[in-house]
Amino acid sequence: PAPGWTAEADAIVVGSGIAGLTAALELRTHVPRVLLVTKGRLLSGSTVWAQGGIAAALDPSDSPEAHLADTLVAGGGLSNPEAAQVLVTEGPERVRELVARGAVFDKAADGDIALTREGGHHADRIAHAGGDATGAEISRALVAQIEAVRHDPGIEVVENALVLDVLTTAPLGGRGGSKGSGARACGVTLHVRGTGSRDGVGAVLAPAVVLATGGIGQVFRSSTNPSGATGDGIAAALRAGAVLGDLEFVQFHPTVLWLGTGAKGQVPLISEAVRGEGALLLDVDGHRFMPAVHEMAELAPRDVVAHAIVRQMAATGADNVLLDARHLGREFLRTRFPTINRRLLEAGIDWSEEPVPVAPAQHYHSGGVVTDLDGRSSVDGLYAVGEVACTGVHGANRLASNSLLEGLVFASRAARDVAARFAAGELRPGTPAERSGGSALVAAAARSRIQKVTSAGSGVIRSARSLADVDERLAAVRADAHRTTEVVAEPQAAEWETTNVHQVARILTRAAALREETRGGHYRTDFPRPDEAWKRRVRVWLDDDGVL
Ligand code: SIN
Repeated sequence: PAPGWTAEADAIVVGSGIAGLTAALELRTHVPRVLLVTKGRLLSGSTVWAQGGIAAALDPSDSPEAHLADTLVAGGGLSNPEAAQVLVTEGPERVRELVARGAVFDKAADGDIALTREGGHHADRIAHAGGDATGAEISRALVAQIEAVRHDPGIEVVENALVLDVLTTAPLGGRGGSKGSGARACGVTLHVRGTGSRDGVGAVLAPAVVLATGGIGQVFRSSTNPSGATGDGIAAALRAGAVLGDLEFVQFHPTVLWLGTGAKGQVPLISEAVRGEGALLLDVDGHRFMPAVHEMAELAPRDVVAHAIVRQMAATGADNVLLDARHLGREFLRTRFPTINRRLLEAGIDWSEEPVPVAPAQHYHSGGVVTDLDGRSSVDGLYAVGEVACTGVHGANRLASNSLLEGLVFASRAARDVAARFAAGELRPGTPAERSGGSALVAAAARSRIQKVTSAGSGVIRSARSLADVDERLAAVRADAHRTTEVVAEPQAAEWETTNVHQVARILTRAAALREETRGGHYRTDFPRPDEAWKRRVRVWLDDDGVL
């Protein structure tokens, strides 16, 4: 739809998790007019839900090199070593900055930040807050900093604002971005549920757009992500001509509270830190199965544990396995994991007395908008940071607690890059080009069908047949959308979001079909082993006709 209002800024940040808030806070000291838009309230999104913590080599006995080694092993040979090196070397300083910004981490007896261990780490390097409420504390501190300046003239915050599209100075980027056509980003269109001058569909023009829109959990039937994780940034970047990568690498968290076969939507996470503190995985017959699978047993990398659980569930004919934390004791569980303890009691489970039923659920997307080390995408002026980005640090499987760190480190780098280019006059306003056609939106009612189909065939276990089936069924959803365009004549946020969910489901399924091997989070029954020939990234973009 045509924008009902327009505005201008020098840089737009989309999203208010750790990456978006960090980018906005850094940018406002360097760029005259920053606009921070977020789909819900400032304190919503995935960061708030992060439990385990943030990984960084903070202990003198640890080192960035050791953190790098663990990151690369977890990544299954597909990580970008340069990006991972940046992550681990700049990480400790960024975490200390977070402390300076007011985030309070749990302390050890000697007064230093307490560090724990999670899967795939060979050292205690996970800083945590409020026991198992790390993301909530980080969000609180960063939002407090934004609140303190939100009425300053240099920054505007717009809540309840869904990004619809990234505006570019040419219709599409040709072969993946600026190189072909010279297209550059020049703003965004938004759908705002607001009042006064910022209500309904509007356009904001700016020479720099930083996407920090988070993950894609809503593509699947159950996920640890909140309901807003609809892949808006990935879908908008794709439509703007940006190159996407690693889309097939979806991480399934091994231990999510099993709420029965009908469980849908956001499901409660049982942090990996629980295993870090010594909890064990048992199958429903009480047999501990991880020592036979990997030398790190319950603390093996996350993909290894998730796949072992799925195999054990199949072997026992059960829908779940058990997480046994009884030996840790009631008092320890209550004080070290207050959020989980509360949630389990609400579900009628006393985990000091009985093992917790758990199963894997979608948790994180390692793929996204391909960026360089400064968050630049293939479209000039378009940046991506945090989960929406594909910096390459995670490769085929993200190491536990590297996600908050990635958001922090790369948002800071992207903000500094925007600031430097703005000061050098390299980022200038542009006029948006008309975008041809556009296709029908997918009705909100189709979302659960998309989730069901994608979970069944593009979930933890995949094959050529299951992926082809998903592709066909998603094409049918799209065909239905075309038949019913008039029904969505006045779209609301839910239709745009569902269209994004559909688009992301489709492209990740196609990427998964291309990768004929098993590696990290991508598990193919028809190609059950890694293949050296596939030690490369699958990249995806739209061509000039809008075709993948
Ligand atoms: C967890 O607490 O288990 C999640 C940590 C992460 O996703 O890195």
